Amino acid sequence: MVTARTLRLRDVRSYEREELSLGPTLTVIHGPNGAGKTNLLEALYFACTGRSCRTSNGREFVRFGQSTARVELDVEAGDGVHELAVGFEPGTPRHVAADGGTVERLADVPFRPLACVFLPDDLELIKGSPGTRRDHVDRLVAGLWPARAGTRAEYSRALAQRNALLSRIRSGEGGRDSVAAWDLELGRHAIALRDTRIEAVEAIRGPAAEISTDLGLPGGLEVSYRARSQAQEPEEFAAELAERLDGDLQRGFTGHGPHRDELLLQRDGRELRSYGSQGEQRLALLSLLLAEREALAESRGRPPLLLLDDVMSELDASRRELLVDRVTRAGQTVMTTTDLAHVPLEGVQDARTVAVESARVVDGQPAR
Ligand SMILES: Nc1ncnc2c1ncn2[C@@H]1O[C@H](COP(=O)(O)OP(=O)(O)O)[C@@H](O)[C@H]1O
Ligand SMILES: [Mg+2]
Repeated sequence: MVTARTLRLRDVRSYEREELSLGPTLTVIHGPNGAGKTNLLEALYFACTGRSCRTSNGREFVRFGQSTARVELDVEAGDGVHELAVGFEPGTPRHVAADGGTVERLADVPFRPLACVFLPDDLELIKGSPGTRRDHVDRLVAGLWPARAGTRAEYSRALAQRNALLSRIRSGEGGRDSVAAWDLELGRHAIALRDTRIEAVEAIRGPAAEISTDLGLPGGLEVSYRARSQAQEPEEFAAELAERLDGDLQRGFTGHGPHRDELLLQRDGRELRSYGSQGEQRLALLSLLLAEREALAESRGRPPLLLLDDVMSELDASRRELLVDRVTRAGQTVMTTTDLAHVPLEGVQDARTVAVESARVVDGQPAR
């Protein structure tokens, strides 16, 4: 079990210098629009993962007019309190330190909290291209089973080599028969990648259906994996590739394999990306995230820190209670809201509320 205790920020977004204490179960950050609530969630995510959950342009994370941002997180683990620090200057590699010593990879820090974040406006995962969802499944795989984190990269490497070979054949530099040896190799990685993705999807399918139904998505969220190939052996996959070689040579790249598979997010048998309302898409995204958190908690033995941005305004009163009940069953949650009255805190042990105004934490106290 790891618990995030205190977050310190320097020149992060709208914050110059600030400190935020977190409760062990639920912390509610409340304040008016623009106060800096989401910025705090983003900073927490940054401390846990070394990247922003809001932007791929790191410059935005650094306070206007400053050159570097820094976040520090005190974490309580079984063996005492540790400090994680991430310093960031756009254009240079970020600097990560654990208990004051530089570390290469945040993922290797044993007391790093895992993190799951829900940003209601970021529906890219639901609405975006299949590639976005594949990337997401591959990140889930890496989270569930860190030892398999390289499966995707291994497949991509083999695929790139085959594609390079296709180009050479097209330009007359190589013969068609040289492909066969690559196809077996690619088949091995393709099957490994597909099967591990299917396993990850299986781990979240049940919880996603249950949670989404609880939260009021009619019919529930159906998560499934659509694989192009059903091959069980590399030879079988290689044969499928061989059949398609003419087409691949015409196009100049490989058109068959898990790089074309799909993570389907459906309701009532229809894809949410095309048929879901904005509200349904948000509920689906939230349910998916909560399901992933449960799966991660099970496989890693500790629930990820859950960061929920402005989720309560979407839900009616009974569902707010359901959500609070579910997220406080295990692990630590930080949520933001403009209206504290939207968060049913009765019965939540050790809840904490934090008031934020104009990029200042003005008041942090245990809720009654
Ligand atoms: N890099 C930055 N430097 C300074 N201020 C920023 C930066 N990025 C965003 N802001 C400011 O942060 C505020 C929004 O904070 P945010 O956490 O999104 O508010 P909310 O409480 O509504 O979630 C805005 O006033 C915005 O101008
Ligand atoms: Mg916000």
